[in-house]
Amino acid sequence: MCGIVGYVGSQDSVPILLEGLRRLEYRGYDSAGVAILNGQGLVVQKAAGKIAVLEGLLNGSKPRGTLGIAHTRWATHGEPTTVNAHPHVDCKGNIAVAHNGIIENYVTLRKKLEEEGHRFTTDTDTETIAHLIEKYFEGNLERAVAAALRHVTGTYGIAVIARDDPGKIVGARHGSPLVVGICDSEYVLASDVSAIIRHTNQVVYLDDEEMVVLTPQGIHTTTIREETVSKRVETVDWDLEKIEKAGYAHFMLKEIFEQPQSLRNTLRGRLLAEEGTSRLGGLNMSPAELRAITRVVITACGTSWHAGMIGEYLIEELARIPVEVEYASEFRYRNPILEPGTVVIAVSQSGETADTLAAMREAKRRGARVLGVCNVVGSTIARESGGGVYIHAGPEIGVASTKAFTSQVAALALELTRELESIPDKIERILAGADKVKAIARAYARHNNFLYLGRGYNFPVALEGALKLKEISYIHAEGYPAAEMKHGPIALIDENMPVVFICTQDSAYEKVLNNMEEVRARRGKIIAIASEGDEHVATKADHVLYIPRVLGPLTPLLSVVPLQLLAYYIAVERKCDVDQPRNLAKSVTVE
Ligand code: G6P
Repeated sequence: MCGIVGYVGSQDSVPILLEGLRRLEYRGYDSAGVAILNGQGLVVQKAAGKIAVLEGLLNGSKPRGTLGIAHTRWATHGEPTTVNAHPHVDCKGNIAVAHNGIIENYVTLRKKLEEEGHRFTTDTDTETIAHLIEKYFEGNLERAVAAALRHVTGTYGIAVIARDDPGKIVGARHGSPLVVGICDSEYVLASDVSAIIRHTNQVVYLDDEEMVVLTPQGIHTTTIREETVSKRVETVDWDLEKIEKAGYAHFMLKEIFEQPQSLRNTLRGRLLAEEGTSRLGGLNMSPAELRAITRVVITACGTSWHAGMIGEYLIEELARIPVEVEYASEFRYRNPILEPGTVVIAVSQSGETADTLAAMREAKRRGARVLGVCNVVGSTIARESGGGVYIHAGPEIGVASTKAFTSQVAALALELTRELESIPDKIERILAGADKVKAIARAYARHNNFLYLGRGYNFPVALEGALKLKEISYIHAEGYPAAEMKHGPIALIDENMPVVFICTQDSAYEKVLNNMEEVRARRGKIIAIASEGDEHVATKADHVLYIPRVLGPLTPLLSVVPLQLLAYYIAVERKCDVDQPRNLAKSVTVE
């Protein structure tokens, strides 16, 4: 959801900013821009479309300068046009601002600023910040930024530069992430570490209401009330290789194929097979505190919500504790009941999703103990939760989440120690059959509707399979509990409706076979995900994709993989932009 990058040092900033934008492109990709300070003053160049369009523009005009900021946008206020692209400037063309977030009181601020004579040229909320800083600017940029931000409500991660106070970038955050990379006499400011890692693994994470001033001499951190804060320099354990495609056509495919390894990483050091238990050092809870839990609320968005749903089934079945799974965007506004004994688990790959973060803060405000299940180390949710589990799936760049899902489920399933160990090898076996999925994808790529049906542990998988298809191939797909089909969706079934059944041999197997018959009777086309060795299912389905047998509660870790591949190959067949599907962003840091 918008990516920001800034550079100050001795090198030409333009290629560094463009490279940083490319790394952040997964956060938004509808328009982009740069602002550079050099001998000519402030140079701003922007373009609607992907970063390649901006790159073409810069190749022509070749602005140079050792200090600059840049932005890739996911539109919230104002269409994705060149004019609305960031950075935004003030009336005098002195100040340039790149912003990630939403300024909630921008209408009031804009009206007041217009009355005071400021001229606005865009439809964005961000332009208000540029004019507000202009209003308070008396020669020192950080003072003006601090004064301006004290009038702003909403969320922001910003990077600001000014022609009349050159040699520095001012960054500030409230609700949207911002990280500073520390190298020798050069500093990079970015929305996340993927834009920094090429330069350094030494980083400083800003917290809410903090500001940073970057100059070639160093960085200085304060609050927006201008009190100095000293920050810890942290070491990031990612390397560049992990954020490259490594020969795969898309990040999504690479991440699907990485699942055996990402799961091994999730489980490493946590399985105590001899004792049949697991170790989760980061929970920060004593055995007595764990035993005192009377209720669990899992809150998340998107794919993480589906992982949370499987967590609900697992925890209820194995620990016999009541669990509710709440969409974070709903939970935070519905006056949630959180008695003593309730533990809230926030599940988020990025650890930055605005709704999940807000839900977690709301739970904390009400006194609940909050745990995080996150992938990105150092992310806001990870830092603000009282404890939790890092899934260690490694960077996930494809907008459609795949390996994070299986690692989240594995983290929530750590109760099933022994069986979990076998999962990575079993996924490898499924991946070896990817060509069969590709052939089915080719046959069905032109259909415009799909239904995904499953029961029990496979119901959230049906939802996730449908979500993957919608996200990357723009085909309408619905996930339903298989038994619920007869209460509505069955009306949709005819010979043009492919139905994906997740029909593994668990307790609901026979029932799902009956549902399959109901679809066959209406001439629907059936693609079944079934347990290895189940020949009976082949007599009912048009196509069968087999997965190895596994303990029922762990089925989702296997059954989701052919569905990820199916969505991927259908999207490729339809020539869709798999890693950057339209209208989406990987990390949604606005409400
Ligand atoms: C966005 C992404 C989804 C993701 C969701 C939650 O909508 O496009 O793929 O599942 O955010 O993200 P999180 O980082 O909190 O897991």
